[in-house]
Amino acid sequence: MKISTIGCGYLGAVHAACMAELGHEVVGLDVDERKVELLARGEAPFHEAGLPELLRRNVDAGRLTFTTDPSAIADCDIHFIGVGTPQMQGRYAADMSQVDAAVQTILDNTDPNREEPALIAGKSTVPVGTAEAIAGKVAESGKNLLVLWNPEFLREGFAVKDTLEPDRIVYGLSEDVAEGEKAREMLDECYREILDRGTPRLLANYPTAELVKVAANSFLATKISFINAMAELCDATGADVTKLAEAIGHDDRIGKKFLRAGIGFGGGCLPKDIRAFMARAGELGVDQALTFLREVDAINTRRRVGAVDLVTDLVGPRLVGHRVAVLGAAFKPDSDDLRDSPALDIALTLWSRGADVVIHDPQAGGKLKEQRPDLEVVDTIEEALSGAEVTMLLTEWKQFRELDPAAVKSIVKTPVIVDGRNVLDPRAWSEAGWDYHGIGRGVSI
Ligand code: UGA
Repeated sequence: MKISTIGCGYLGAVHAACMAELGHEVVGLDVDERKVELLARGEAPFHEAGLPELLRRNVDAGRLTFTTDPSAIADCDIHFIGVGTPQMQGRYAADMSQVDAAVQTILDNTDPNREEPALIAGKSTVPVGTAEAIAGKVAESGKNLLVLWNPEFLREGFAVKDTLEPDRIVYGLSEDVAEGEKAREMLDECYREILDRGTPRLLANYPTAELVKVAANSFLATKISFINAMAELCDATGADVTKLAEAIGHDDRIGKKFLRAGIGFGGGCLPKDIRAFMARAGELGVDQALTFLREVDAINTRRRVGAVDLVTDLVGPRLVGHRVAVLGAAFKPDSDDLRDSPALDIALTLWSRGADVVIHDPQAGGKLKEQRPDLEVVDTIEEALSGAEVTMLLTEWKQFRELDPAAVKSIVKTPVIVDGRNVLDPRAWSEAGWDYHGIGRGVSI
C-alpha cells in the first residue's frame, strides 16, 4: 500500500519506519526541515533503540521517503496522523492546531475526482469527539476520504517493538456501517502481518477508541501516583515502599508493573494527557468523574518539590554555591526526551535557587547543552561527581544503577546520595560510607 505519516516526531517517524518495514511504500511529511533532512538520510533525530537501523534499511530500499512537500501525499491510500497535541500554554486543554493543520493538508491534497476512497487513520492522542469532528469536515469537503481512529500505545525506548508487536490494536470506526467496514478492511490490509500473528484487534466507535487511549494513560499515571502516595506514608512510618510494592504486586489483580515510587512521571504524554482529559471532561459537564486526576497530578508534582526540599534539608536552606551532581536529565532512561522531565525540573529548580548544579545524561546531554547553554552539562559521570556535596540519581540509566559506591566515593566532596528512582541498594551504599536517601524508604522527602 502507499502510505503517508503526517508528523515525524517520536510517534510519526517510528510509525513511518515500521510501516515501511512491513513492506509498504511510505512517505513521511513534516514541516520541520532539519528533521526531514536527517530522516531522509536514514538518521534518527532522537534517541530510540532500533530506529536508526530500521530507517537506514528502508530508506536504502527506496520504500521510505521524507519530505516537507505536502503534494507528495496526494496518491496515498492511507494517511496516518501522528502530530503532537501538546498542552496549551497556561491551560490544561490540548493544543489541536497541528491536528487541524494535518487534516487540512490531507483535504487540500486529495484529488476531488478520486475514485477509490483514501483513509485518514488518526494516531495522535486527542480529546474525545475529535474523530467525529474530522469526519464532519471531510463530509463537508465532498472528498472521497474515510476516517478511522487508531490510537497508539507505544512507549519511548520500546517504540519499534511496541509498533511492530503491539499488545492490542484498537480501531474507532464510523457509525456508518458501510464506511466503517471499508475503513476496517483498509487498515487490516495495512496491518496484515501484525494481525496474522494473532494480535488482538478491538473494534469500537470513535469516542470509545479515543477514550481507550486517555483512560490507559490515566490509569498508568494513577498507579504511579498511588505508589508515590504510599511512599509518603512509608517515609512517615519507617516502612519501605519497594517492599510494599513488591508485596501488593504479587496479587495479579494489582500487578507489579508501574509501581516504582520515585520522583514521579514526566514526558510528553502522561502529564499532559491527564490534564487534557480533565479539561475535556469539564467541557462535557462530567468534570467530577475525573477530580481524582487532580490529586494524581498533585501527588506527582509534590515528588519534585520533595526532592528539592530534601536537598535543602541536607545542605541548609541557602542553596547558593552548594555543588549538586544530577545524574539524569531525560524523563526516563533509554530516551533523550526532556519534555516535562522530573529530573530536569528538579535540577532547574535547584539551579534557579543558586545551587551549583552539574548535570550528566548519557543521551540527553547533547540536546540539553544546545537548549540550555547556561547550564553546566558534562560528558562523564566522573566530571559530574567531582567535588559534589550531594549526588542525585534522577533518571535510572543502567550506568547509574551499576555505579560502584566504593569507587565513586573518592570523587565526591561529601558522600550523600539521593536515589530519586529507588534503584540503588541502600545497604551497599550505606556500608560504603554514603549517607543514602531513597524515596519512601524511611527517609522523609
Ligand atoms: C506512556 C505510556 O506508557 C504508553 O503506553 C503511551 O503510548 C505513551 O505514554 C503515549 O501516550 O504516547 P512514555 O511516555 O514513553 O509512555 O513513558 P512511560 O514508560 O509510561 O513512563 C512515563 C513516566 O512515568 C516516566 O517519567 C517514568 O519514569 C515514570 N514511571 C513509570 C514511574 O515513575 N514509575 C513507574 O513505575 C513507571
